[in-house]
Amino acid sequence: MKYIFFIGLLNIFLIGQAICDDKNIPIAITTWWFYNATIKAWDVLKEGGTALDAIEQGATVCEVQQCDGTVGYGGSPDEDGETTLDALIMDGKTMNVGAVGALRRIKSAISVARHVMERTKHSFLVGELATQFAVQMGFKEEPLTTQQSKQMWMKWHNEDNCQPNFWMNVKPDPSKYCGPYSTLDNFRRESPASNVKVDRYNHDTIGMVAIDGNGDVAAGTSTNGARFKIPGRIGDSPIPGSGAYADNSVGGAAATGDGDVMLRFLPSFLAVEEMRRGATPTDAARTAVLRIAAHYEDFMGAVVALKNDGQYGAACHGMDTFPFVVQDNTKESFRVETVQCLK
Ligand SMILES: *[C@@H]1O[C@H](CO)[C@@H](O)[C@H](O)[C@H]1NC(C)=O
Repeated sequence: MKYIFFIGLLNIFLIGQAICDDKNIPIAITTWWFYNATIKAWDVLKEGGTALDAIEQGATVCEVQQCDGTVGYGGSPDEDGETTLDALIMDGKTMNVGAVGALRRIKSAISVARHVMERTKHSFLVGELATQFAVQMGFKEEPLTTQQSKQMWMKWHNEDNCQPNFWMNVKPDPSKYCGPYSTLDNFRRESPASNVKVDRYNHDTIGMVAIDGNGDVAAGTSTNGARFKIPGRIGDSPIPGSGAYADNSVGGAAATGDGDVMLRFLPSFLAVEEMRRGATPTDAARTAVLRIAAHYEDFMGAVVALKNDGQYGAACHGMDTFPFVVQDNTKESFRVETVQCLK
């Protein structure tokens, strides 16, 4: 109780600061405890770098360090044992977007996404053809499989009978057997009770939002997707408005969690639009999370929201608590903050 009171005081102090200084910028905010990414983003921002550079370089740290095994190479093998990457970067100044999905054999997914944004008139490239684009842009082609990801896949395939997996209404019974599967006639069309345990080591992403000294907002994500996904699957992370969204006139948001469900609700877009309507970042994030929970009461996910004045907040669902990392001028060093989840 005392502790909560103390945090309350701290918040009042911080909000007071933000109002005195007009805007609490620059600032960087990152999902989960991926503080190395935040440190990098902050280094860029405090040297006067752009929000876009902060996002790209921050997320790259996670791609190199393989944050939690859920970002970058060597994690989350698909059903064929291959790691593929999804990433998004969004410029809130121009409303331009670059994204890649199911990117194969290239480690720097967010940088390829930035090349899509800055060197093409497209927004989104996928699969083998995104790899060809990346190679043309000078990226190195190399396997994303590691000893660890190979072992993870071998255990799943050879010892665990391909459990868990993402199939339904196919034969042989996917809850017991490996594929290949074929369609099952006479199945019941009802909402699936997933046999896939959703946790932070399975459905996880780095999502970042940053505001630079000029007040420009950028957001981005990078992930290797869901473990043992069906090859070709893309989740919420690279989808603009779902994994992340940025608009200079309001702020930005990023989301993480059960991507197959979350992408149906564009939670990052919704959080930004709620802030546009005057909601605080915390309330905006809550609204985005509750919209999903109204339809999927057990879904696991979180949204972080950052207003263009530097106020921020987060909301989560399906876990006890959700950590996120913030750094701005009011802090000597990055700070991991934690929110209590709504359910
Ligand atoms: C941060 O980076 C250091 C190495 O530079 C590493 O030892 C540490 O595990 C990283 N922390 C996280 C949370 O990834």
